[in-house]
Amino acid sequence: MRTQIAIIGSGPSGLLLGQLLTEAGIDNVILDRVGKDYILGRVRAGVLEEGTVRLLDEARSAARLHAEGLPHNGFSLAFDGRDHRIDLYGLTAGKRVTVYGQTEVTRDLMEQREASGALTIYDAADVTPHDFDGRTPFVSYEKDGATQRIDCDFIAGCDGFHGASRKAVPEKAIRTFEKIYPFGWLGLLADVAPVNHELIYANHPRGFALCSMRSVTRSRYYIQCSLDQKVEDWSDDRFWDELRRRLPAHHAEALKTASSFEKSIAPLRSFVAEPMRFGRLFLVGDAAHIVPPTGAKGLNLAASDVHYLFEGLREFYGDRSSVGIDAYSQKALARVWKAVRFSWWMTTMMHRFPDTGDFDQKIQEAELDYLTHSRAASTALAENYVGLPF
Ligand code: APR
Ligand code: PHB
Repeated sequence: MRTQIAIIGSGPSGLLLGQLLTEAGIDNVILDRVGKDYILGRVRAGVLEEGTVRLLDEARSAARLHAEGLPHNGFSLAFDGRDHRIDLYGLTAGKRVTVYGQTEVTRDLMEQREASGALTIYDAADVTPHDFDGRTPFVSYEKDGATQRIDCDFIAGCDGFHGASRKAVPEKAIRTFEKIYPFGWLGLLADVAPVNHELIYANHPRGFALCSMRSVTRSRYYIQCSLDQKVEDWSDDRFWDELRRRLPAHHAEALKTASSFEKSIAPLRSFVAEPMRFGRLFLVGDAAHIVPPTGAKGLNLAASDVHYLFEGLREFYGDRSSVGIDAYSQKALARVWKAVRFSWWMTTMMHRFPDTGDFDQKIQEAELDYLTHSRAASTALAENYVGLPF
């Protein structure tokens, strides 16, 4: 088989890139190690920047997002028993975010892809990129007991942090940067009205908590937990009790609870691989970088990578120019590092670290106080939260 772009990974990065390419008349095939139901079973964050929504519009995959997504003009930072609203809309001259689950973004992109007739190969084992240093790259994989091959012009590695694309790059050609945080997030989903109409990020002596939502009837809550905790240790009742203790009293009293239908623990990590291009192989999204979820940047960063790569490929096929693809890595990384910084900063400011001494604690309190009382500092938070331009 032959295609123009072989895309490894059918997560949000691969699907969004595939859809933009298809709309532009550039042939592409997506390969994934697992099946559609497995992919749609993953629960991820749910805050979309305006730039991400714009790209989903361009991919003609945003109809349901516009109908069902919740526009949010602000969020709260809670600490010291009170909450302080960050007026995103007012501080950024009219920008806002949209709360809409990533699982739904993935579903919408998959449906649009199916409608367009573009090919996705699910349950492909041992997907491996080859010869991307030369002019004739190809991807091999195992399916139905046989080795198959797709010849292509370029390979897009959209296969997440544990994927095969980054691993195929020789060690001496790549540099990685990593920070592991000494805690995780225990998350819960329940069909119950959210405690607040906007998100609440809470810093509390017992640990961080986040009140988010998927809709006006579905809540998503998180609490910081130590890495040795197991989901089985957390009954729903224990979770609700702990969440209540970490919220200001008026929210704790208003919190409505219900049986959960999903509970999981995620570790927190910052990771960047440089560069993001190796000959005819491009790394996109989680394959190249991971951020802790505190700033809700994971999917939004994947979207800006896709934008830069798509524009480069469109120029390559439309204008016979390599300028865009040559600039891909540098452009993407400039934005990636700013989001990595923001996510690290928000994580550091909102969590209790096991080794925090009295000095660090006082600095954290001063930072929150400054942030919520200085318009300049609140503006810096707001402009990063709604997303830096791309
Ligand atoms: N071969 C083929 N496919 C693979 C392989 C492999 N070896 N390894 C992983 N994959 C597939 C996964 O099954 C998954 O469907 O690649 C896809 C990667 O998807 P994500 O992990 O969601 O990564 P990405 O699309 O970059 O996501 C960007 O959205 O889902 C969130 O947390 C994610 O915030 C991040 C953002
Ligand atoms: C979520 O809704 O899952 C969510 C929201 C905001 C975050 C992280 C996760 O910062």
